[in-house]
Amino acid sequence: MRRHFLSLKDLTKSEIDFIIERALELKKLKTNGLRPNLFERKVLGMIFEKSSTRTRVSFESSMIEGGGGAIFLTNRDSQMGRGESIADTSRVISRMVDIVMIRTHSHETVETFSKYSDVPVINGLTKAFHPCQILADLVTYFEFKGSIENKKVTWIGDGNNMCNSYMEAAQIMDFQLDIACPKGFEPTAIDANNCKLAENPYDAVDGADLVVTDVWASMGDESEKMDREKAFIEFQVDQRLMDRAKPDALFMHCLPAYRGLEVSEEVLEGVNSVVWHEAENRLHCQKALIEFLLNSSKR
Ligand code: CP
Ligand code: NVA
Repeated sequence: MRRHFLSLKDLTKSEIDFIIERALELKKLKTNGLRPNLFERKVLGMIFEKSSTRTRVSFESSMIEGGGGAIFLTNRDSQMGRGESIADTSRVISRMVDIVMIRTHSHETVETFSKYSDVPVINGLTKAFHPCQILADLVTYFEFKGSIENKKVTWIGDGNNMCNSYMEAAQIMDFQLDIACPKGFEPTAIDANNCKLAENPYDAVDGADLVVTDVWASMGDESEKMDREKAFIEFQVDQRLMDRAKPDALFMHCLPAYRGLEVSEEVLEGVNSVVWHEAENRLHCQKALIEFLLNSSKR
């Protein structure tokens, strides 16, 4: 059966646990100078309709370190930019590569691509979800603290793609998720018992084991940047807010971060912050994910 990874719900809890362990195993191997030939002669096709630093570099490096290669396409330099349909593009590309990763605007695009694809498709971020980042966040939590089950996680800021993926993670991995967003920027649906909207950021963060935020204006929201900066002013993760979480709480941010807006310099660079580890774990996690999808699609 062909396996895709369009949202976290495409994996079971035990599959996520397996990928977390494998990512940390691959990280250890790399630290010891070992880069196993996981993807010998395999090719990853990458389609980016939005900017990226971490996602592109982690996927491309994963393939190179594993003995394969990656092809980077944008809609500016492919026929997609001149109107070739998603379905046709998928049918062609998936006959030439072993696995595909797409970063795009609408979630429907990755759904359509996966429907017509002969090979596994990975969502590298859509307006709705960012599942690869959540996997890396789960790896990072496990690396520093162990199981996330029954822990309290707080989401501060925009009810965006990252927030949606955190809600999925809370349901699958059984942690409590408290969400604090300015009025009008809440996630569209909160349909799980263990996810709840808090009255304000201070209540949300009270006793948290993990505090997470993201940019106030995601890719595609640039025209709202100024208005959002006004609306989100009370939602900066600063030290006063972090002091309400557990003393050893972790702080995560998928990056890129804007110091002085969604997070203060003090918190981003402070003792609770694990953002650089979180970014590095994208690499180890990507390898584990690609390996899992290729192996489980063979069966
Ligand atoms: N966190 C993340 O996905 O970063 P990029 O946009 O740089 O890929
Ligand atoms: N929410 C952000 C995440 C960037 C990695 C965006 O969609 O732009």
